[in-house]
Amino acid sequence: MTDLKADLNVTQTYLPPLEEYIAYVREIWEEGWVTNNGRLVQQLEDQLKQFLGVPYLQYVSNGTVALQLALNALELKGKVLTTSYSYVATSSIIHWENCQPVFIDIHPETLCIDPNLIEERIDEHTTAILATHVYGYPCDVVAIDRIAKKHNLKVIYDGAHAFGVKLNGTPIYQYGDASTISFHATKVFHTVEGGAVITNDSTVDERIFLSKAFGHRGDEHYRLGINGKNSEFHAAMGLCNLPRVSEAILRRKQLSELYREQLADVPIRTLQPNNTLSYNYAYFPAIFEDYDTMQRVKQGMEAQGIFPRRYFYPALNQLPYHQGEPCPVAEDITQRVLCLPLHSTLKEDEVLFVSSVINQLF
Ligand SMILES: Cc1ncc(COP(=O)(O)O)c(C=O)c1O
Repeated sequence: MTDLKADLNVTQTYLPPLEEYIAYVREIWEEGWVTNNGRLVQQLEDQLKQFLGVPYLQYVSNGTVALQLALNALELKGKVLTTSYSYVATSSIIHWENCQPVFIDIHPETLCIDPNLIEERIDEHTTAILATHVYGYPCDVVAIDRIAKKHNLKVIYDGAHAFGVKLNGTPIYQYGDASTISFHATKVFHTVEGGAVITNDSTVDERIFLSKAFGHRGDEHYRLGINGKNSEFHAAMGLCNLPRVSEAILRRKQLSELYREQLADVPIRTLQPNNTLSYNYAYFPAIFEDYDTMQRVKQGMEAQGIFPRRYFYPALNQLPYHQGEPCPVAEDITQRVLCLPLHSTLKEDEVLFVSSVINQLF
Protein backbone atom coordinates (compact mmCIF):
# COMPACT_ATOMS: atom_id res chain seq x y z
CA MET A 1 0.00 0.00 0.00
CA THR A 2 1.31 3.52 -0.77
CA ASP A 3 1.47 6.20 1.93
CA LEU A 4 -0.88 8.41 -0.13
CA LYS A 5 -3.06 10.49 2.20
CA ALA A 6 -6.49 9.81 0.85
CA ASP A 7 -9.54 12.02 0.83
CA LEU A 8 -11.38 10.29 -1.97
CA ASN A 9 -15.05 10.88 -2.47
CA VAL A 10 -17.28 8.85 -4.73
CA THR A 11 -17.30 11.76 -7.14
CA GLN A 12 -15.76 15.18 -7.59
CA THR A 13 -17.17 18.07 -9.58
CA TYR A 14 -15.18 18.91 -12.70
CA LEU A 15 -14.50 22.64 -12.91
CA PRO A 16 -13.28 24.10 -16.23
CA PRO A 17 -10.45 26.67 -16.44
CA LEU A 18 -11.71 29.72 -14.53
CA GLU A 19 -10.78 32.18 -17.33
CA GLU A 20 -13.10 30.36 -19.73
CA TYR A 21 -16.02 30.64 -17.37
CA ILE A 22 -15.19 34.27 -16.63
CA ALA A 23 -15.20 35.06 -20.38
CA TYR A 24 -18.84 33.88 -20.49
CA VAL A 25 -19.65 35.81 -17.31
CA ARG A 26 -18.23 38.93 -18.97
CA GLU A 27 -20.55 38.36 -21.96
CA ILE A 28 -23.51 37.98 -19.59
CA TRP A 29 -22.54 41.25 -17.85
CA GLU A 30 -22.22 43.08 -21.16
CA GLU A 31 -25.59 41.84 -22.42
CA GLY A 32 -27.34 42.31 -19.08
CA TRP A 33 -29.56 39.24 -19.78
CA VAL A 34 -29.25 36.63 -17.03
CA THR A 35 -32.21 34.25 -17.39
CA ASN A 36 -35.52 33.63 -19.27
CA ASN A 37 -34.39 31.68 -22.33
CA GLY A 38 -31.24 33.72 -22.86
CA ARG A 39 -28.72 33.43 -25.67
CA LEU A 40 -26.41 31.01 -23.79
CA VAL A 41 -29.31 28.73 -22.83
CA GLN A 42 -30.32 28.53 -26.50
CA GLN A 43 -26.72 27.96 -27.55
CA LEU A 44 -26.35 25.13 -25.02
CA GLU A 45 -29.62 23.52 -26.14
CA ASP A 46 -28.42 23.57 -29.78
CA GLN A 47 -25.04 22.07 -28.87
CA LEU A 48 -26.63 19.39 -26.68
CA LYS A 49 -29.06 18.35 -29.43
CA GLN A 50 -26.15 17.96 -31.79
CA PHE A 51 -23.92 16.14 -29.29
CA LEU A 52 -26.66 13.75 -28.15
CA GLY A 53 -28.18 13.20 -31.61
CA VAL A 54 -31.73 14.15 -30.62
CA PRO A 55 -34.29 16.41 -32.36
CA TYR A 56 -35.88 18.20 -29.37
CA LEU A 57 -34.35 19.10 -26.02
CA GLN A 58 -35.44 21.57 -23.34
CA TYR A 59 -32.80 22.70 -20.84
CA VAL A 60 -34.39 22.95 -17.38
CA SER A 61 -33.42 23.68 -13.79
CA ASN A 62 -32.64 20.10 -12.69
CA GLY A 63 -33.27 16.43 -13.40
CA THR A 64 -36.19 16.21 -10.96
CA VAL A 65 -38.09 19.05 -12.59
CA ALA A 66 -37.25 17.41 -15.94
CA LEU A 67 -39.16 14.30 -14.78
CA GLN A 68 -42.03 16.41 -13.49
CA LEU A 69 -42.33 18.29 -16.79
CA ALA A 70 -42.15 15.05 -18.79
CA LEU A 71 -44.94 13.38 -16.80
CA ASN A 72 -47.04 16.50 -17.08
CA ALA A 73 -46.46 17.01 -20.82
CA LEU A 74 -47.46 13.39 -21.53
CA GLU A 75 -50.62 14.03 -19.49
CA LEU A 76 -50.22 10.92 -17.34
CA LYS A 77 -52.84 9.84 -14.86
CA GLY A 78 -53.48 6.72 -12.76
CA LYS A 79 -50.77 4.13 -12.35
CA VAL A 80 -47.19 4.45 -13.56
CA LEU A 81 -45.14 1.25 -13.56
CA THR A 82 -41.66 2.04 -12.37
CA THR A 83 -38.39 0.55 -11.24
CA SER A 84 -37.72 -0.31 -7.63
CA TYR A 85 -34.01 0.51 -8.04
CA SER A 86 -33.17 4.14 -8.81
CA TYR A 87 -32.61 7.45 -7.09
CA VAL A 88 -35.57 8.64 -4.99
CA ALA A 89 -36.44 11.40 -7.52
CA THR A 90 -37.65 8.81 -10.04
CA SER A 91 -40.53 7.57 -7.92
CA SER A 92 -41.24 10.60 -5.74
CA ILE A 93 -42.07 12.65 -8.82
CA ILE A 94 -44.78 10.11 -9.76
CA HIS A 95 -46.50 10.83 -6.45
CA TRP A 96 -45.81 14.53 -6.79
CA GLU A 97 -47.68 14.53 -10.09
CA ASN A 98 -50.65 12.79 -8.43
CA CYS A 99 -50.06 9.44 -10.10
CA GLN A 100 -49.55 6.12 -8.33
CA PRO A 101 -46.18 4.40 -8.62
CA VAL A 102 -46.36 0.62 -9.08
CA PHE A 103 -42.97 -0.88 -8.31
CA ILE A 104 -41.53 -3.56 -10.57
CA ASP A 105 -38.49 -5.58 -9.58
CA ILE A 106 -35.21 -5.33 -11.51
CA HIS A 107 -33.39 -7.81 -13.68
CA PRO A 108 -30.48 -9.27 -11.66
CA GLU A 109 -28.02 -8.80 -14.54
CA THR A 110 -28.85 -5.30 -15.81
CA LEU A 111 -30.23 -3.86 -12.52
CA CYS A 112 -32.81 -2.06 -14.70
CA ILE A 113 -36.56 -2.77 -14.60
CA ASP A 114 -37.24 -6.42 -15.50
CA PRO A 115 -39.44 -6.39 -18.64
CA ASN A 116 -40.59 -9.95 -17.89
CA LEU A 117 -42.40 -8.66 -14.80
CA ILE A 118 -44.15 -5.67 -16.37
CA GLU A 119 -47.15 -7.13 -18.18
CA GLU A 120 -48.61 -8.96 -15.17
CA ARG A 121 -48.90 -5.60 -13.32
CA ILE A 122 -50.75 -3.72 -16.07
CA ASP A 123 -54.43 -2.98 -15.44
CA GLU A 124 -57.04 -0.54 -16.78
CA HIS A 125 -55.57 2.30 -14.67
CA THR A 126 -52.02 1.94 -16.02
CA THR A 127 -50.92 4.79 -18.30
CA ALA A 128 -47.13 4.64 -18.46
CA ILE A 129 -43.80 3.02 -17.70
CA LEU A 130 -41.08 5.14 -16.08
CA ALA A 131 -37.77 3.26 -16.13
CA THR A 132 -34.22 4.28 -15.23
CA HIS A 133 -31.09 3.52 -17.25
CA VAL A 134 -29.33 2.47 -14.04
CA TYR A 135 -25.72 3.75 -13.76
CA GLY A 136 -26.06 4.65 -17.47
CA TYR A 137 -26.60 1.01 -18.54
CA PRO A 138 -29.65 0.93 -20.85
CA CYS A 139 -32.94 -0.71 -19.97
CA ASP A 140 -34.20 -3.40 -22.32
CA VAL A 141 -35.66 -0.68 -24.55
CA VAL A 142 -36.84 -3.11 -27.24
CA ALA A 143 -38.91 -5.24 -24.85
CA ILE A 144 -40.30 -2.17 -23.08
CA ASP A 145 -41.27 -0.61 -26.40
CA ARG A 146 -43.08 -3.81 -27.44
CA ILE A 147 -45.06 -3.96 -24.17
CA ALA A 148 -45.90 -0.24 -24.30
CA LYS A 149 -47.21 -0.47 -27.88
CA LYS A 150 -49.30 -3.57 -27.08
CA HIS A 151 -50.96 -1.90 -24.06
CA ASN A 152 -50.99 1.68 -25.35
CA LEU A 153 -48.72 3.00 -22.59
CA LYS A 154 -46.37 5.98 -22.65
CA VAL A 155 -42.70 5.37 -21.86
CA ILE A 156 -40.43 7.77 -20.01
CA TYR A 157 -36.79 6.98 -19.42
CA ASP A 158 -35.01 8.54 -16.48
CA GLY A 159 -31.68 8.95 -18.23
CA ALA A 160 -30.09 10.99 -15.44
CA HIS A 161 -26.97 8.79 -15.69
CA ALA A 162 -26.97 8.02 -19.40
CA PHE A 163 -25.42 11.13 -20.94
CA GLY A 164 -23.87 10.25 -24.30
CA VAL A 165 -24.72 6.52 -24.13
CA LYS A 166 -25.49 4.74 -27.40
CA LEU A 167 -26.96 1.30 -28.03
CA ASN A 168 -25.95 -0.31 -31.33
CA GLY A 169 -24.98 3.20 -32.45
CA THR A 170 -28.39 4.72 -31.60
CA PRO A 171 -28.42 7.48 -28.97
CA ILE A 172 -30.21 6.08 -25.92
CA TYR A 173 -32.28 9.25 -25.56
CA GLN A 174 -34.04 8.52 -28.86
CA TYR A 175 -36.06 5.74 -27.19
CA GLY A 176 -39.42 6.23 -25.47
CA ASP A 177 -41.88 9.12 -25.54
CA ALA A 178 -39.55 11.22 -23.41
CA SER A 179 -36.18 10.94 -21.69
CA THR A 180 -34.85 13.07 -18.88
CA ILE A 181 -31.29 13.94 -17.87
CA SER A 182 -29.67 15.42 -14.79
CA PHE A 183 -26.83 17.91 -15.19
CA HIS A 184 -26.16 18.01 -11.45
CA ALA A 185 -22.57 18.77 -10.40
CA THR A 186 -21.96 15.06 -9.68
CA LYS A 187 -22.77 13.92 -13.22
CA VAL A 188 -20.57 13.03 -16.22
CA PHE A 189 -21.66 16.31 -17.83
CA HIS A 190 -22.87 19.07 -15.52
CA THR A 191 -24.05 22.67 -15.40
CA VAL A 192 -23.81 22.90 -11.57
CA GLU A 193 -27.59 22.33 -11.34
CA GLY A 194 -29.57 21.54 -14.45
CA GLY A 195 -31.37 18.96 -16.48
CA ALA A 196 -33.13 18.36 -19.76
CA VAL A 197 -36.20 16.75 -21.27
CA ILE A 198 -35.82 15.09 -24.65
CA THR A 199 -38.58 13.93 -26.97
CA ASN A 200 -39.02 13.02 -30.62
CA ASP A 201 -42.36 14.82 -30.71
CA SER A 202 -42.64 18.54 -31.45
CA THR A 203 -46.01 18.83 -29.63
CA VAL A 204 -44.59 17.39 -26.41
CA ASP A 205 -41.52 19.60 -26.77
CA GLU A 206 -43.70 22.70 -27.17
CA ARG A 207 -45.67 21.74 -24.04
CA ILE A 208 -42.44 21.45 -22.07
CA PHE A 209 -41.15 24.74 -23.47
CA LEU A 210 -44.32 26.44 -22.23
CA SER A 211 -44.65 24.58 -18.92
CA LYS A 212 -41.08 25.26 -17.84
CA ALA A 213 -41.86 29.01 -17.99
CA PHE A 214 -45.24 29.28 -16.25
CA GLY A 215 -47.22 28.15 -19.31
CA HIS A 216 -47.42 31.48 -21.08
CA ARG A 217 -45.82 33.36 -23.94
CA GLY A 218 -46.03 37.07 -23.34
CA ASP A 219 -49.62 37.81 -22.34
CA GLU A 220 -51.04 34.59 -23.84
CA HIS A 221 -51.53 31.77 -21.30
CA TYR A 222 -51.64 28.28 -22.87
CA ARG A 223 -51.22 25.64 -20.16
CA LEU A 224 -50.42 25.07 -16.51
CA GLY A 225 -46.78 25.76 -15.82
CA ILE A 226 -44.09 26.02 -13.18
CA ASN A 227 -40.70 27.71 -13.05
CA GLY A 228 -38.34 25.10 -14.47
CA LYS A 229 -36.10 27.50 -16.42
CA ASN A 230 -32.37 27.67 -16.03
CA SER A 231 -30.03 30.67 -16.07
CA GLU A 232 -27.29 32.02 -18.32
CA PHE A 233 -24.73 31.31 -15.57
CA HIS A 234 -25.65 27.62 -15.52
CA ALA A 235 -25.68 27.43 -19.31
CA ALA A 236 -22.21 29.04 -19.35
CA MET A 237 -20.87 26.18 -17.20
CA GLY A 238 -22.36 23.72 -19.69
CA LEU A 239 -20.79 25.51 -22.65
CA CYS A 240 -17.39 25.28 -20.93
CA ASN A 241 -17.82 21.58 -20.04
CA LEU A 242 -19.42 20.14 -23.18
CA PRO A 243 -16.27 20.29 -25.39
CA ARG A 244 -14.41 18.29 -22.71
CA VAL A 245 -16.97 15.58 -22.03
CA SER A 246 -15.74 13.02 -24.61
CA GLU A 247 -12.24 13.22 -23.16
CA ALA A 248 -13.69 12.88 -19.65
CA ILE A 249 -15.59 9.73 -20.67
CA LEU A 250 -12.42 8.23 -22.14
CA ARG A 251 -10.58 8.93 -18.90
CA ARG A 252 -13.40 7.33 -16.88
CA LYS A 253 -13.15 4.28 -19.14
CA GLN A 254 -9.42 3.91 -18.47
CA LEU A 255 -9.91 4.24 -14.71
CA SER A 256 -12.83 1.76 -14.73
CA GLU A 257 -10.70 -0.77 -16.59
CA LEU A 258 -7.91 -0.28 -14.07
CA TYR A 259 -10.35 -0.93 -11.19
CA ARG A 260 -11.65 -4.05 -12.93
CA GLU A 261 -8.13 -5.37 -13.45
CA GLN A 262 -7.05 -4.59 -9.87
CA LEU A 263 -10.17 -6.10 -8.32
CA ALA A 264 -10.21 -9.24 -10.46
CA ASP A 265 -9.33 -11.54 -7.55
CA VAL A 266 -11.82 -10.35 -4.93
CA PRO A 267 -15.36 -11.74 -4.69
CA ILE A 268 -17.24 -8.69 -5.95
CA ARG A 269 -19.39 -8.35 -9.03
CA THR A 270 -18.82 -5.40 -11.35
CA LEU A 271 -20.87 -4.38 -14.38
CA GLN A 272 -19.25 -4.45 -17.78
CA PRO A 273 -20.47 -2.90 -21.04
CA ASN A 274 -20.88 -5.41 -23.87
CA ASN A 275 -19.91 -4.59 -27.44
CA THR A 276 -23.38 -3.28 -28.41
CA LEU A 277 -22.96 -0.46 -25.92
CA SER A 278 -21.13 2.82 -26.15
CA TYR A 279 -20.99 3.47 -22.41
CA ASN A 280 -20.18 6.65 -20.47
CA TYR A 281 -18.56 5.07 -17.39
CA ALA A 282 -20.72 7.21 -15.10
CA TYR A 283 -20.29 4.94 -12.06
CA PHE A 284 -18.27 1.99 -10.85
CA PRO A 285 -20.71 -0.09 -8.78
CA ALA A 286 -19.26 -3.00 -6.81
CA ILE A 287 -21.71 -5.66 -5.64
CA PHE A 288 -20.52 -7.63 -2.62
CA GLU A 289 -21.55 -11.12 -1.54
CA ASP A 290 -23.66 -9.93 1.36
CA TYR A 291 -24.54 -6.92 3.51
CA ASP A 292 -21.94 -7.69 6.21
CA THR A 293 -19.09 -7.81 3.70
CA MET A 294 -20.25 -4.56 2.09
CA GLN A 295 -20.40 -2.83 5.49
CA ARG A 296 -17.03 -4.18 6.57
CA VAL A 297 -15.38 -3.01 3.35
CA LYS A 298 -17.12 0.37 3.50
CA GLN A 299 -15.93 0.98 7.05
CA GLY A 300 -12.43 -0.21 6.19
CA MET A 301 -12.31 2.19 3.25
CA GLU A 302 -13.63 5.09 5.31
CA ALA A 303 -10.87 4.49 7.86
CA GLN A 304 -8.42 5.12 5.01
CA GLY A 305 -10.14 8.33 3.85
CA ILE A 306 -12.05 6.71 0.97
CA PHE A 307 -15.76 7.43 0.78
CA PRO A 308 -17.74 5.10 -1.48
CA ARG A 309 -21.51 5.54 -1.58
CA ARG A 310 -24.40 3.14 -1.01
CA TYR A 311 -26.10 4.03 -4.27
CA PHE A 312 -28.96 3.22 -4.54
CA TYR A 313 -30.23 2.67 -1.05
CA PRO A 314 -32.94 1.83 -0.06
CA ALA A 315 -35.00 0.10 -2.74
CA LEU A 316 -37.73 2.57 -3.72
CA ASN A 317 -40.60 0.22 -2.84
CA GLN A 318 -39.24 0.25 0.75
CA LEU A 319 -39.52 4.02 1.22
CA PRO A 320 -41.92 4.84 4.08
CA TYR A 321 -44.30 6.87 1.89
CA HIS A 322 -44.53 4.40 -0.98
CA GLN A 323 -45.63 1.04 0.50
CA GLY A 324 -44.80 -0.94 -2.62
CA GLU A 325 -45.09 -4.68 -3.19
CA PRO A 326 -41.91 -6.62 -2.32
CA CYS A 327 -39.16 -6.50 -4.97
CA PRO A 328 -36.71 -9.15 -3.76
CA VAL A 329 -33.96 -8.59 -6.34
CA ALA A 330 -33.78 -4.81 -5.80
CA GLU A 331 -34.05 -5.26 -2.02
CA ASP A 332 -31.13 -7.69 -2.12
CA ILE A 333 -28.85 -5.60 -4.40
CA THR A 334 -29.46 -2.42 -2.43
CA GLN A 335 -28.09 -4.15 0.70
CA ARG A 336 -24.73 -5.00 -0.83
CA VAL A 337 -23.77 -2.40 -3.41
CA LEU A 338 -21.19 0.38 -3.17
CA CYS A 339 -20.20 2.87 -5.87
CA LEU A 340 -16.44 3.35 -5.76
CA PRO A 341 -14.79 6.75 -6.34
CA LEU A 342 -14.84 7.53 -10.07
CA HIS A 343 -14.45 10.87 -11.82
CA SER A 344 -12.38 12.27 -14.64
CA THR A 345 -9.84 13.97 -12.36
CA LEU A 346 -9.12 10.82 -10.34
CA LYS A 347 -5.52 9.64 -10.70
CA GLU A 348 -4.26 6.14 -11.51
CA ASP A 349 -2.42 6.15 -8.17
CA GLU A 350 -5.69 6.78 -6.40
CA VAL A 351 -7.43 3.90 -8.16
CA LEU A 352 -4.49 1.66 -7.22
CA PHE A 353 -4.75 2.85 -3.63
CA VAL A 354 -8.52 2.24 -3.40
CA SER A 355 -8.07 -1.19 -4.99
CA SER A 356 -5.24 -2.15 -2.67
CA VAL A 357 -7.32 -1.16 0.37
CA ILE A 358 -10.20 -3.34 -0.88
CA ASN A 359 -7.86 -6.23 -1.66
CA GLN A 360 -6.38 -6.04 1.83
CA LEU A 361 -9.82 -5.93 3.44
CA PHE A 362 -10.55 -9.32 1.87
C1 LIG B 1 -31.62 8.38 -11.50
C2 LIG B 1 -31.80 9.82 -11.11
N1 LIG B 1 -32.93 10.46 -11.44
C3 LIG B 1 -33.14 11.75 -11.12
C4 LIG B 1 -32.19 12.48 -10.44
C5 LIG B 1 -32.48 13.89 -10.06
O1 LIG B 1 -31.65 14.80 -10.71
P1 LIG B 1 -31.36 16.24 -10.07
O2 LIG B 1 -30.45 16.06 -8.90
O3 LIG B 1 -30.68 16.99 -11.20
O4 LIG B 1 -32.67 16.84 -9.70
C6 LIG B 1 -30.99 11.86 -10.08
C7 LIG B 1 -29.97 12.64 -9.34
O5 LIG B 1 -28.95 12.16 -8.92
C8 LIG B 1 -30.78 10.50 -10.41
O6 LIG B 1 -29.67 9.86 -10.05
